[in-house]
Amino acid sequence: MYDVYKIRKQFPMLNNKKMQGHDLVYLDNASTTFKPQCVIDATVKYYSDETANHHRGDYDLLYNMDKKVRETRETVAKFFNCDTNEVVFTSGDTMALNLIALSYGFQFLKKGDEILVSEAEHASDALPWFEVSHLTGAVIKFIPLDEDGVLTVDNLKKVITNKTKIISVAQVSNVLGNVCDVKAFAKVAHEYGAVMVVDGAQSAPHMKIDFKDLDIDFLTISGHKMCGPTGIGCLIGKYDLLQQMWPYFVGGGMNVTFNKNIEMIPFEAPEKFEAGTQNLAGILGLKAAIEFLDSIGMDEIHQHDRELCEYALSKLEKCDDIIIYNKNAKNGVITFNKKGVFAQDEATLLNSKGIAVRSGQHCAKMLNDFLGCAATVRMSTYLYTTKEDIDAFVDAVINGGDFLDAYFN
Ligand code: ALA
Repeated sequence: MYDVYKIRKQFPMLNNKKMQGHDLVYLDNASTTFKPQCVIDATVKYYSDETANHHRGDYDLLYNMDKKVRETRETVAKFFNCDTNEVVFTSGDTMALNLIALSYGFQFLKKGDEILVSEAEHASDALPWFEVSHLTGAVIKFIPLDEDGVLTVDNLKKVITNKTKIISVAQVSNVLGNVCDVKAFAKVAHEYGAVMVVDGAQSAPHMKIDFKDLDIDFLTISGHKMCGPTGIGCLIGKYDLLQQMWPYFVGGGMNVTFNKNIEMIPFEAPEKFEAGTQNLAGILGLKAAIEFLDSIGMDEIHQHDRELCEYALSKLEKCDDIIIYNKNAKNGVITFNKKGVFAQDEATLLNSKGIAVRSGQHCAKMLNDFLGCAATVRMSTYLYTTKEDIDAFVDAVINGGDFLDAYFN
């Protein structure tokens, strides 16, 4: 039985936190999530009791860190059902996508090749491919969204060609919350000899991901969106692809040897991609976060998000002056505007009532034409969000009064 109140007790940020004199209602979880005590403890313990590097010495403290890094890789691998040597630690989803673009895209794409993305992509999944396009002459093409903003296989088939080398899409849109059937996408990608890249920043925190079953080639995630620390994430990649990729980020800890002939032999994957001292506190925190999510259950978390969104939608939809952009998504994200109120003003009004949401373009700046507006307000739930949070949010949106009050009171 899902007990949201018991779960909340584990989050110090939810312990009577106030904003603008009100109890905090945190609905910006698509941006970042709060951390349970176990994650905070794991991170602090690294600094207070376990500080050492890894890979680079022969003493017990360091052996301990080697073991813990290995254990985290195993935890990540088990959680996403991939092999341990398919897990590369990165600073987050953005770095992981840049790494694929640089180490796979730059290395293997050439002029005239095609990269498929969508106009719903976050900057993290669009801009690295723009760079590859500029550097190699590969062409970026857009998979059309359907009328709900969903990426469908039918629309993929309209644009994929024998020149397509990469398809890169978010499994869950950070603005619309739509889920893309990346398993079906991967099947089509492979029929055309293309590589399937999945930005899992918004999906990994909210749903079970089985890397092997999806048969995708790359998956990227950010720890901080799934109760983990900031500055840690993963690139998960099929091992044979990782092995083919040259590690352009180079330095200590990633090479077997280098010499005065200006030669360097990298380690095998995944270590060859982990140059420099890693974010060890973050790695330990990520392990704690994954164990925490696992202890609740990803299906349960997904169900919780869905129920809250359906509850919120059932109330908001009754209101004529609210435009909802993703009525059918029901996946932990509601993106909306109040008629006649600019999104930032609405967010400021909600802030004045202790409610944290995001407004603007949400780093998905190609989506404006589709949405037909310059900016939107986005509320996003997570495993600790309550019905009371939703009630407070809905009440503030519907009966919150004039947004100018937020500026002048
Ligand atoms: N990617 C984060 C968001 O969607 C920052 O808010």
